[in-house]
Amino acid sequence: MHKDVTRILFTEEEIAAIVKDMGAQISKDYACKSLLLVSVLKGAFVFMSDLARTIDCDVEVDFMEVSSYGAEAKSSGVVRIIKDLETSIEGRHVLIVEDILDSGLTLKYISKNLKSRGPLSVEVATLLLKQGKQQADIECKYIGCVCPDEFVVGYGLDYAEKYRNLPYIGVLDPRVYS
Ligand code: IMP
Ligand code: MG
Repeated sequence: MHKDVTRILFTEEEIAAIVKDMGAQISKDYACKSLLLVSVLKGAFVFMSDLARTIDCDVEVDFMEVSSYGAEAKSSGVVRIIKDLETSIEGRHVLIVEDILDSGLTLKYISKNLKSRGPLSVEVATLLLKQGKQQADIECKYIGCVCPDEFVVGYGLDYAEKYRNLPYIGVLDPRVYS
């Protein structure tokens, strides 16, 4: 275990099982429809690549990057698009793939923005949902697991761009950021 991690919440094997189950459900729900997976960079890149490989209908992938204005640790809900999609989503089924839903403000903005572009549907798949933290009324069609309200890293999730490469998800030692 990394020295800055105090405990492991989800092991590599547990994550693989969760992702596989979600992929199976998505494959059923979107059978015969072409699906565009939209990943929100950078945190969701690991989850997106694993999830895409568990889905057995036609999928395309595209990426968006956004930044939140305001304080760094919390999202303000005011979002700026740094990198937009390369494809048009008009008339398409879109599934936004997120790493973690905390306040939900970032996702709320992205979802509203994408819905204004004339897609057939926009749904959300998040790997983690932080317990009791959602301020925005976001409906997630797919939720991997609920995690405690602590700062977590690994499997794509970072603190100051570090720890994304850890194969598990763990709680970051508060001494690292205090
Ligand atoms: P929200 O707008 O508050 O839901 O913020 C969501 C984004 O904040 C996520 O997509 C992550 O990039 C980041 N985030 C929130 N909580 C954590 C955490 O515990 N560890 C790492 N990143 C986090
Ligand atoms: Mg993110």
